[in-house]
Amino acid sequence: MPRPLVLAALVPFFALVASAAAISATDPDAIRRGEYIFNAGGCAGCHTDIKQKGPLLAGGRPMDTPFGRFYGPNITPDLEYGIGSWTDEQFITALQSGISPQGKPYYPSFPYTAFTKATRQDLLDLKSYIFSLPAVSQPNRPHELRFPFNFRLLLWPWRFLNFEPGTLADDPSQDATLNRGRYLVEALGRCSQCHTPRNALGATIADLNMAGAIVGPDGPSFPNISPHPDTGIGSWSIADIVQLLKSGLTPDFDSVGASMGEVVEETTSRLLDQDLEAIAQYLLSLPPIDNKIAKPTSE
Ligand code: HEC
Ligand code: HEC
Repeated sequence: MPRPLVLAALVPFFALVASAAAISATDPDAIRRGEYIFNAGGCAGCHTDIKQKGPLLAGGRPMDTPFGRFYGPNITPDLEYGIGSWTDEQFITALQSGISPQGKPYYPSFPYTAFTKATRQDLLDLKSYIFSLPAVSQPNRPHELRFPFNFRLLLWPWRFLNFEPGTLADDPSQDATLNRGRYLVEALGRCSQCHTPRNALGATIADLNMAGAIVGPDGPSFPNISPHPDTGIGSWSIADIVQLLKSGLTPDFDSVGASMGEVVEETTSRLLDQDLEAIAQYLLSLPPIDNKIAKPTSE
């Protein structure tokens, strides 16, 4: 075919690709699926200044850690202060690799170490949802970190030691429910962010998965949710765990407080029952770890 004809033949193809891209950006199904991932991933919590009743995802929420105080950034689709100019690839790279569009590494206070396990499709849907929300023009507050943690470059060796990128593949030896539970807990649920203790570098200790943690001498404590019969939740039934995740009520009709109240409100109470059952089955399938944690008094 002569060259102009080839080009002419390609025009409808390009038009098709362009309209497919436009559809995917506003596809109501993608937005609806993305909202579910957004709730499962708890994005609102860290990126909204809830105490000051700040606008959704506009940032400014302080988070105290042993390394200093982080402020969640603005992730609304605002072009100047949010992530409104980001491409799909930049969004995926931030969540799966923990690298900013400027090529800088993110602090693991942004749980990309979990989100790296999410599927590309889930993250694209998540972006469609976030980009359907109102843009808020609010500048970011810089983190207030202690020396030497204020040096972002230190994150390169940290990543080398502690970060394994990659989507979580289903374990073929387990059934679909356990795989779903594992995905929700490990890739999106960030349960280990609080319930797994960390080493001195702030990385979660895999051998103590969900065994509970006490942060600092007077910091908050997080119960052992491994299925150990005495020190964990081994005596809880699937229904007990589902009830807690749905309503915040424990089997003794106590209601969870501290940060778990927020997790229930923002995340788990918004998930489907079948997903809560999958989470419960997965937690009860983990190795039981004997680790006594004093009950938290406050956060
Ligand atoms: C536990 C708190 C926490 C949760 C949960 C969380 N983030 Fe973040 N996020 C942060 C912090 C802190 C930063 C800033 C990291 C830094 O400065 O290195 C950040 C950074 C980001 C950035 C980069 C923003 C920029 O301007 O470069 C994006 C995008 C982002 N988060 C999206 C999300 C999404 C989407 C979710 C839900 C799936 C989510 N985050 C859940 C704490 C969190
Ligand atoms: C931001 C921190 C945080 C995150 C994230 C978190 N939890 Fe919790 N969780 C807590 C705290 C604090 C308590 C204790 C609350 C209380 O006793 O009032 C708790 C309590 C629990 C309990 C009750 C344990 C007991 O012995 O009473 C279960 C079960 C639980 N969490 C499961 C989960 C699951 C599943 C996830 C992930 C979807 C999760 N948590 C994510 C902080 C967190």
